[in-house]
Amino acid sequence: MKVTVVGAGAVGATCADNIARKELCEELVLLDIKEGFAEGKAMDMMQTATLLGFDTKISGSTNDYSKTAGSDVVVITSGIPRKPGMTREELIGINAGIVKGVTENILKYSPNAVIVVISNPMDTMTYLALKSSGVDKHKIIGMGGTLDSSRFKFYLSQALQCSPNDVHGLVIGGHGDTTMIPLTRFATLNSFPISNLLDEETLKKVAADTMVGGATLTGLLGTSAWYAPGAAGAAVVESIIRDEKKVMTCCVALDGEYGQKDICLGVPVVLGKNGWEKIIDFNLNDEEKAAFSKSADAVRNMNAVLDTMTV
Ligand code: LAC
Repeated sequence: MKVTVVGAGAVGATCADNIARKELCEELVLLDIKEGFAEGKAMDMMQTATLLGFDTKISGSTNDYSKTAGSDVVVITSGIPRKPGMTREELIGINAGIVKGVTENILKYSPNAVIVVISNPMDTMTYLALKSSGVDKHKIIGMGGTLDSSRFKFYLSQALQCSPNDVHGLVIGGHGDTTMIPLTRFATLNSFPISNLLDEETLKKVAADTMVGGATLTGLLGTSAWYAPGAAGAAVVESIIRDEKKVMTCCVALDGEYGQKDICLGVPVVLGKNGWEKIIDFNLNDEEKAAFSKSADAVRNMNAVLDTMTV
């Protein structure tokens, strides 16, 4: 198996590091536009191989896409991250052109690759990758909901004072501070409904903290987070490469599911070797349906910005 991670910044490098540690592939390519940067990160990571005991061969490339040829999965992290006070949506002007170009270059050398999009604004970048490439919709997957669900489970575990690994929960909708929807009603502690364990006010705070999870970290770090985004990207890659058929929230093209069409939005999907294989259509209640449709409206407005740009 071969995996490429485009963008050797903090998120891309962390994602690659996780992929190597888990030995998800024999060959891992890191690519960046900055001269020598991906090569340096790849060499640094290779020097951890004997310490961590992995056999994945990692190489770096400065913008030479021929090195990525024949990749089974490609993760796109390219673009600029947000600064404190910025929304993910404000990145569209710069990142749209970058993501479109990267997608084109990747497909030249790996026409059958499953593409995992991390670049922000993630829902719109996933939509752009799909529309501009015209590839099978099952092969274009935005990672956001996997990250947001992980943050949701973290905040729930803090409130419950339990292990995050005992908590199950999903965040659907857009990967934006106001567009994501933590599905509190379905969250469980080892299959016991969390709504029976935490009061209404605490549940609301957990949901609100989850929604601004990325912004909170951006405020603390001065740039956007990388450990959880990188690990979430690697978790998505893992389910694809190992054909695990895990159910994860990812941003995928909807064609009537959840009442939406011509949009990429976060919903629970089964991830396997063909990319996303099936959408799990939860029976949302009226309140959740309304939130989903509001989220879709906001993402659709952002997607419409693409039409006004020459990307
Ligand atoms: C975050 C960025 C990667 O949520 O979108 O941390």
